[in-house]
Order: sequence, then C-alpha cells, then structure tokens
Amino acid sequence: MTKKVIAVAGATGAQGGGLVRAILADKEGGFAARAITRDPSSGKAQELARMGAEVVAADVDDPASLKSAFRGAHGAFCVTFFWDHFSPERELSQARAMAQAAKDAGVAHVLWSTLEDTRARVPLDDPRMPTIHGKYKVPHFDAKGEANRFFTDLGLPVTLFHTSFYWDNLIHFGMGPKEGPDGRLVFSLPMGTKKLPGIAAADIGACAYGVFRRGGEFTGKSIGVAGEHLTGAQMAAALSRALDREVVYQAVPFDVYRSLGFPGADDLGNMFQYKHDFEDAFCGLRDLGMSRSLHPGLKTFSTWLAENKDRIPIE
Ligand SMILES: NC(=O)c1ccc[n+]([C@@H]2O[C@H](COP(=O)([O-])OP(=O)(O)OC[C@H]3O[C@@H](n4cnc5c(N)ncnc54)[C@H](OP(=O)(O)O)[C@@H]3O)[C@@H](O)[C@H]2O)c1
Repeated sequence: MTKKVIAVAGATGAQGGGLVRAILADKEGGFAARAITRDPSSGKAQELARMGAEVVAADVDDPASLKSAFRGAHGAFCVTFFWDHFSPERELSQARAMAQAAKDAGVAHVLWSTLEDTRARVPLDDPRMPTIHGKYKVPHFDAKGEANRFFTDLGLPVTLFHTSFYWDNLIHFGMGPKEGPDGRLVFSLPMGTKKLPGIAAADIGACAYGVFRRGGEFTGKSIGVAGEHLTGAQMAAALSRALDREVVYQAVPFDVYRSLGFPGADDLGNMFQYKHDFEDAFCGLRDLGMSRSLHPGLKTFSTWLAENKDRIPIE
C-alpha cells in the first residue's frame, strides 16, 4: 500500500519532531513522514532519517523551496518559529508562503499550528494591557491568528490547530522553580488563581498525528489541544510531589512580569494576562477529552514531571 506522505515543517523541533516520531511509531498507520529542515546533514535531521523519515531541505522564508517540499504530499504541518526572530511580520510572510505552497501542491489536509489573535477580544485601544509595536497585544499570538486567513482564503482543507503552553518551558525557558530567600522553592507565574492549559511539547505533534489520521473530521475546523488545565497552585503542588521538596506558588502581577526586561517579557506578560482574563474561552477551546481521543498516551503534568523532573534546572 502506498503511504500518504505528511510534510512536516519544524521537524527537528518540538512540535514537528513530535509529529514525525508519532508517524514513524505507527508502522501500520498508512502515513509516511517527510521531515523539512534547513540542514539535512545536521545531527537531528540525520537521526530522523535513521528512524525512517524522508528528509528534505527547505526554508519557510523561501517559497520555492516550500513548493518542492510539499509536492506530492497528502498532508502538510505548518508552524512558524517566533522565538527565533521575534518578528510577527516574518511569521505572517512565512505562513502566507506555506499556505500558498500547500495550495500549489494540492495538499489534501493542512494543519496550521496557530494561536488566538488576542485583538479580537482586546482591541488595540483597550488600556488593560499595553499595545506592542503599535499593532499587537500579544505579537506571537496575534500574527498566528491573523495568518489563519491565508489558509482559509485559499479554500484549503485546513485544521486551525491551537497549541498550549509547553511544560518543557520549565526546562528550556527558565520558567522552573527558583530557590527563595527562605530556602523554599518558588514557582512564579502571572496567572493569579486561573487555569493555564499546558502540554508536553512532544504531545502536540502526537495530537497533530491524530488529526491527520481522522482526516476529514477536522478539516475546516478550529480545535485546540492540551494535556491539563492547571492553576499555578496546582502546578506547584505537582512540582512539590515530583521534586519531594516544598514548592510554593507566587502569582506575579502582570505589570511586574512585563517589566522583567528579558526579550519578549512584554509579549509574554500580555499573553498570560489574556489567558487569565479569558480563562473560560481559552481553556474551552483546548478540550482535554478531545485531545486524549487524538492521542491516548497524552501526558498529564504529573506524568510529564515523572519523566522530566531531573531536567528542570533549579536555581
Ligand atoms: N513555548 C511554548 O510554550 C509554545 C506554546 C505554543 C506555541 N508555541 C509556538 O511554537 C512555535 C515554535 O515551534 P517549536 O517549539 O516546535 O519550534 P522549535 O522547537 O524551536 O523548532 C523549530 C525547528 O524549526 C526549524 N526552523 C527554524 N527556522 C526555520 C526556517 N526558516 N525554515 C525552516 N525550518 C526552520 C529548525 O530546524 P532546522 O534548524 O533543522 O531547520 C528548528 O529545529 C513558536 O512560533 C511559538 O510561538 C510555543
């Protein structure tokens, strides 16, 4: 049987890597993975090739390369990489190029890894959070949401696939607990008492594979995935159990977070405020039962911690 090829952007990264691995793990699933990378000779790309992926070179900044990377594919997984460049405009042009390449290739199912355009609920003149670059409230969300129309305007069979906060940020993004002056660990998050949908980053790709497998059921739909919706206090309690050490939750005020001074602090401060202020809608889109139906092995925060607690740097 000829397998249906899924072309995966960001294949050497978190979301795309999870998808490639999920496709390759399902030997009888009828799908094959085409891993897109800028450098097929890199260690990560070579590892995917050894596992059985077809590895192709393309750059999401280069529309011609995308066109050949999507050619002949049944499905395309499209994602952009905001934190590599901090430019919402660049995300917009990359998304536009991927949508056009999918159209030109006649792809049967496109997954666009997107997030909410927060300006639909918080217009630019809304004073509750600062406007950034004159055009955005949460730049790395707004550009992705704005880019949805590149896919829908072309009439593509697209699933608008909304992702959640990676628990892996506790490892790679400096968001883990820090030792306080009294020796206790403090887990800081600007979420007040509201719930934050979170997920093991690799499970995003595994859920995406579930969407491809279920095909037409999700084309033309907007869905979201998460492993759990947890308050900061619940996350701190899970961290305490996993680390076998008391971890206390500190609800950081949004303004304090925005002024922390690291690159993107204003963007992330607004993002957390949006998730806080619109908890019901934000959690509601990221249905846990549906996420688990897409990927029955979906991790909870506790099962993710059991595997990853030793990788969280404690400062
Ligand atoms: N952190 C979070 O909590 C979170 C939550 C939800 C959504 N997101 C979103 O997730 C997105 C990033 O996805 P990710 O975490 O899967 O990325 P990632 O792990 O940083 O991986 C990105 C991969 O994409 C490739 N890449 C980078 N620039 C490229 C380009 N110009 N053309 C082709 N490939 C390129 C790189 O591979 P090569 O070097 O092999 O080309 C890299 O391995 C961001 O836009 C972010 O906003 C993040």
